[in-house]
Amino acid sequence: MTRATRAIAVVAALQVTLLAGAVSTQQPVAPTAKPEDGIPATDATVQKACGTCHRSDDKGQMSRISFQRNTPEGWQSTIQRMAALNGLKIDPQTARQVVKYLSNHLGLAPEEAKPAAWEVERRLIDYKYTANADAESTCIRCHSMGRIISQRRTRGEWDLVIAMHRGWYPLVDNQAFRRTGPLPRDPAADGRPLDLRQPVEKAIDHLARAFPLKTPEWTAWSATMRPARLEGTWALSGWDAGKGAIYGRVTITADPAAADEFTTAITYRVARTGESVNRTGRALIYTGFQWRGRSTTAAGADSALREVMFVDRDWRQIEGRWFTGGYDEVGLDVRLDRVGAETRVLGTDRTALKQGAAGQELKIYGTNLPAALRPADIDLGPGLTVSRIVSATPDVVTAAVEVTATAALGARDLFVAGASKSKALVVFDRVDAIKVKPDWAMARVGGTTFPKMLAQFEAWAFHNGADGRPDTPDDLSLGLVDVAWSLEEYAATYDDDDMKFVGMLDAATGRFTPNVDGPNPVRKGSRNNIGDVWVVANYAGEASGSTPAAAVRARAHLLVTVPLYMRFDPTVGAPLDSPRSLGARQ
Ligand code: HEC
Ligand code: HEC
Repeated sequence: MTRATRAIAVVAALQVTLLAGAVSTQQPVAPTAKPEDGIPATDATVQKACGTCHRSDDKGQMSRISFQRNTPEGWQSTIQRMAALNGLKIDPQTARQVVKYLSNHLGLAPEEAKPAAWEVERRLIDYKYTANADAESTCIRCHSMGRIISQRRTRGEWDLVIAMHRGWYPLVDNQAFRRTGPLPRDPAADGRPLDLRQPVEKAIDHLARAFPLKTPEWTAWSATMRPARLEGTWALSGWDAGKGAIYGRVTITADPAAADEFTTAITYRVARTGESVNRTGRALIYTGFQWRGRSTTAAGADSALREVMFVDRDWRQIEGRWFTGGYDEVGLDVRLDRVGAETRVLGTDRTALKQGAAGQELKIYGTNLPAALRPADIDLGPGLTVSRIVSATPDVVTAAVEVTATAALGARDLFVAGASKSKALVVFDRVDAIKVKPDWAMARVGGTTFPKMLAQFEAWAFHNGADGRPDTPDDLSLGLVDVAWSLEEYAATYDDDDMKFVGMLDAATGRFTPNVDGPNPVRKGSRNNIGDVWVVANYAGEASGSTPAAAVRARAHLLVTVPLYMRFDPTVGAPLDSPRSLGARQ
């Protein structure tokens, strides 16, 4: 017996004893039924890399591996654990091949991957798993539920997840898996016997039913799956948090060496400011639809963004998130739509035009915009006329727009030479309120031992709408506005001095950069630079007719806290395609 096979045997033995101990006495451990069917893993590279410990049976099923399905990130983190804890030796190149093979043959179908997209897109969302209370309360104590709902396993493999946790983290039973407090004693009102299962057993019973290895979705997808042919030109529209809408173009070129790999040339403008950005990158499509890429500007590695997107099954749309940051917290939402020779309107620099305003310049972003555009080719609806085309390129047209004093308030669809964008603009007469988004955010101190976690705020302007009342469905959103940003004390504690220590809010951009981590001797009690503050947006206001501009303000709560000292997710910050992420710990 090699050291490695012995290790598996030891863990397995450990698990049998531990499982037997955990199952309540009324429920004898069922004798192992006939072995469950898995999915063969016949690739030579996988067999060579993993086969010393994971044996193949006569059907080509590798122990453990053939009985679960995963996202590329899921396979990557398993391989990282094999390298970190189980003695796997693997080079990054081989690891990437293994991740690719396993993601393609033991992966997820689009319908299975979509509900957990936020996990791989690294979105900070407040997710609640409502299908089962025991799974929600037992399994999210240390890591995200996204990690669990993006896996599929046989019943036996779900049971082994418990064994794995107990083997590696022996305190887990007391921390989360077992009931705290006394046993329920009174029978249920309907006379059914008491359910004495431990929370972990209830959770696993649920997961084994909800996330089985074999599903109609996977059977169907694996039958039709093929490399997506993405070569061509794509219109990019997106949102860069803090900066607003972005519009541009992505040219995707096939890699002659691999059908599922591509290079990208990305060019876009920030709509409001016209700032233009050029990036180049590479992408790999796993399982026929899971885009994992990386791009940089001419500035090099520091400008790198990870790209996690989903390719639509008709190969006409790709959607997801590009991100960076110590906690993957900085990023853009991106959507690509395939374009041919047709004209397409993506959006405009301003999203609101004022009643009665003369000669305002409006930039219209698109693809294949006609060079010889005439004012009459642009239709902005009643009360708005284009008096002049200031400039025109295939990607952006600047037009001078007149708005009559009586133009009705509300949204306008925009038509340009046969292309359109619905509700592209709003006609308004005054700004009634501004709002800070998000209305609550968290940042983490860092920069010494741990990375900083930044927070980005945006100021949005609103008109109260026809009913004249705020926060009602007829309110008109006027889009982002420029404000002066500042911090104010959030009086949570007497003699609060948080404002002086938590960090810096950029007065122009609304980006908060926290202070350094660790005790601060200058601070009372040498405390860390943490605390609560208000983030305040001051908007100068809009003059309207004879009414002078009146300043409007809004604020949001910012909690600046300590770093995440323990990370249960080893893949954070490590892009799938970087040498740093795979096999780096061997
Ligand atoms: C040196 C021995 C060794 C090698 C090589 C090895 N493993 Fe493992 N593997 C183990 C052991 C031991 C366990 C059980 C303990 C655990 O889950 O960490 C395991 C468990 C697993 C599991 C089940 C974990 C779970 O989440 O339930 C998977 C999947 C797996 N290995 C995949 C792989 C893949 C893929 C490779 C090849 C890239 C590989 N292993 C190579 C020793 C190895
Ligand atoms: C005490 C903390 C803790 C709790 C509670 C916990 N986990 Fe985990 N879990 C971990 C850690 C740590 C890892 C990471 C191991 C690694 O590095 O891959 C992990 C990994 C996993 C994985 C990935 C394993 C793989 O190789 O693919 C799954 C699936 C998982 N846990 C499921 C669960 C489920 C289901 C529950 C609830 C019954 C649960 N966890 C509760 C700590 C915990």
